[in-house]
Amino acid sequence: MPHPRKKVIAANWKMNLTSSEVKPYLETLLLETQQVEGIDIVLIPSFTSIPKASELLEKTPKVRLGAQNFSAHDKGAFTGEVSARMLRDLFVRYILVGHSERRQLFGETDQIVHEKLLVAHRNEFRPILCVGETLEERKAGKAKQVLENQLKVALADLSVEDLADTIIAYEPVWAIGTGCTATTEQASEMHHFIREMIKDLSSKGPLSKLAAGDERQGIDGAQQLSVQEVLNGASTGVTQPIASAVEFGKRSKEVAAKIRLIYGGSVTPANACELLKSPDIDGALVGGASLDPRAFAEIVKAAATA
Ligand code: PGA
Repeated sequence: MPHPRKKVIAANWKMNLTSSEVKPYLETLLLETQQVEGIDIVLIPSFTSIPKASELLEKTPKVRLGAQNFSAHDKGAFTGEVSARMLRDLFVRYILVGHSERRQLFGETDQIVHEKLLVAHRNEFRPILCVGETLEERKAGKAKQVLENQLKVALADLSVEDLADTIIAYEPVWAIGTGCTATTEQASEMHHFIREMIKDLSSKGPLSKLAAGDERQGIDGAQQLSVQEVLNGASTGVTQPIASAVEFGKRSKEVAAKIRLIYGGSVTPANACELLKSPDIDGALVGGASLDPRAFAEIVKAAATA
């Protein structure tokens, strides 16, 4: 069956490589991937490398630019912070939200992640929302529950349109930087779980809005419905006309079919091919292996042939 979603392969440099290393990196990456088409390739360097990368990529739409972090505030007296608007000015289009290193090392709570996700959408970024369980949580059989909690808080108040436009990265904490990647079965199972959850979230809305006739507008027509409303939908007491219920079911399937779910955690050229062949895995967020442009290009090529 043809894969309906465009794959996205993102390089998260974390706190590595300097501005002067951007040019040779990109030269190699672009050379190595010149035959590759149909993949969203995203470079996510540190803040100090963004201006250089932005300048070099201005006329090269093949590789898009992302940022690793940003402030939940729009502007003001927040010494050391970088706002979403400042990044947009540098043609940053993708943005990481809730990476486990931000959550664990810098105290980003689910609530902060949620606020940042709203800021990202308000500034028209394409956010990559990271979720994932720790080893202890997995061993305790709580992996799915952890994902569900992280996603419910993070995605609340999002319009259904923004929800469909969010990329969700499943990154088990125990696999990040450890060389211990999730098996394809483990990753696929969790991706499948997330997709089902997205379907569920976007199918329980206050159906009266659809009864008013906005079903003609497809997914876009659902933009008035926030996920918070969706979560509250069951208790609104709204009775649902049968035609709208059918339409909402269709729409939720559309959102779930459109949203891209990518895997992160020790992805390398050696394991990328198998992971990316899974119909549930729409790409990869690559840390360590992305520091070498040849290795990263191999992963991009694996996505193109998967
Ligand atoms: P890793 O990092 O590939 O080095 O495990 C992935 C990530 O943190 O996004």
